Amino acid sequence: PLVDVAITINGESRDLSVDPRASLLDTLRLGLDLNGSKKGCNQGACGACTVLLDGERVNACLVLAVTCDGQEVTTVEGIGMPGHLHPLQDAFIEHDGFQCGYCTPGQIVSGVALLAEAATGQPSVVDVDLSPDSAAHLSDEELSERMSGNICRCGAYPGIRAALRHAAQ
Ligand code: FES
Repeated sequence: PLVDVAITINGESRDLSVDPRASLLDTLRLGLDLNGSKKGCNQGACGACTVLLDGERVNACLVLAVTCDGQEVTTVEGIGMPGHLHPLQDAFIEHDGFQCGYCTPGQIVSGVALLAEAATGQPSVVDVDLSPDSAAHLSDEELSERMSGNICRCGAYPGIRAALRHAAQ
């Protein structure tokens, strides 16, 4: 039987009846037509499906929608859309942070979280104290480590790192 849940998605409260076996990713893509989050591996390895769950980065393919009752989900559609881009999205365009673009929604969601985490120095993600603009000064190695959950098969990593640094300034 379906289970009723209330999930706030991109700021909008949604009452949903979900299959308890359905992933958050499938619920977003198939049930709600929010296709920005991509399905790459469907097993938590690629990061194409990254969304924010109560502000934390998660792989939506590994989260059951039924467990999100009462929680807030932010997808790439909640971060920016054409005409209303987030500064990180503008920076991705300016610095060629993508080639085929398939991983880009996950990279953007993860990058927005990284910038917020770096600004607040949340210990769950960063293990050192960081000043608000410090993401701009992270080394390639540190940026790569903090974005290591998001794989880009085209290898656009230099552009991604440049975009993150630009948006952090
Ligand atoms: Fe979820 Fe790859 S589709 S991590």
